[in-house]
Amino acid sequence: MRMRRKKHLEDRLSACGDRIIFMDREDRDFSVKTEESILDLRELFKNDNPIHMEIGCGKGKFICELAALNPDINYLAVEKASNVIVDAAEKAIEQGITNVYFLRGGAEYLESYIPLSSIGRIYLNFSCPFPKKSYASHRLTHRKFLDIYKRIMTADAEIHQKTDNMQLFEFSIEEFSHSGFGIKNVSLDLHDSGFEGNIMTEYETRFTELGQPIYRLEAHIL
Ligand SMILES: C[S@@+](CC[C@H](N)C(=O)[O-])C[C@H]1O[C@@H](n2cnc3c(N)ncnc32)[C@H](O)[C@@H]1O
Repeated sequence: MRMRRKKHLEDRLSACGDRIIFMDREDRDFSVKTEESILDLRELFKNDNPIHMEIGCGKGKFICELAALNPDINYLAVEKASNVIVDAAEKAIEQGITNVYFLRGGAEYLESYIPLSSIGRIYLNFSCPFPKKSYASHRLTHRKFLDIYKRIMTADAEIHQKTDNMQLFEFSIEEFSHSGFGIKNVSLDLHDSGFEGNIMTEYETRFTELGQPIYRLEAHIL
């Protein structure tokens, strides 16, 4: 039964064609950066538009809505779980959205794929909080990740973070400060803040229905 489900997932992933780029194939060590592994983003998108990225895109509601609203921006959506990135890629294909590509794999591999100083904005939406202290280095705002983001970001780029988790939010603020980021436009209750143009993610809808406030900030390289 499990084998059949796995085969079904593999079939769906391959039906998405080149829309999903696999950052963690078994036949290569992607922790090693080589010239060939770095994506030619101009060739991929067939234009020179700015490139924004969401890390941990889940089932892709946010990135598909954002990409449809901004056809002059190219988007890369990173997600390590195959069973959700496949939903996201299928959604983009079904909706005829052409300015988004999906990268399957952990954010730790990004530098092996993304050219230095190429990403104009990074979205971190409801990243897994990993509440246990011993798992802190897995949090997507841990300094280990911020150092990677800094290298692939353009000098004027921003990171936009949303979360329902106060502990993760506090941890992130500390990590941003430690890693040389400034913070602005902080909201402790996004939906009651007058912020315009918010695009709800799948997790945001769920937490909002439970009555939880949403925390949001923007971070920029100092
Ligand atoms: C809690 S879900 C949120 C999904 C979506 N952003 C939303 O708001 O609905 C977090 C997602 O981040 C992904 N994720 C966690 N660590 C990751 C990593 N190191 N690299 C890429 N994706 C990661 C998980 O697989 C999961 O799909």
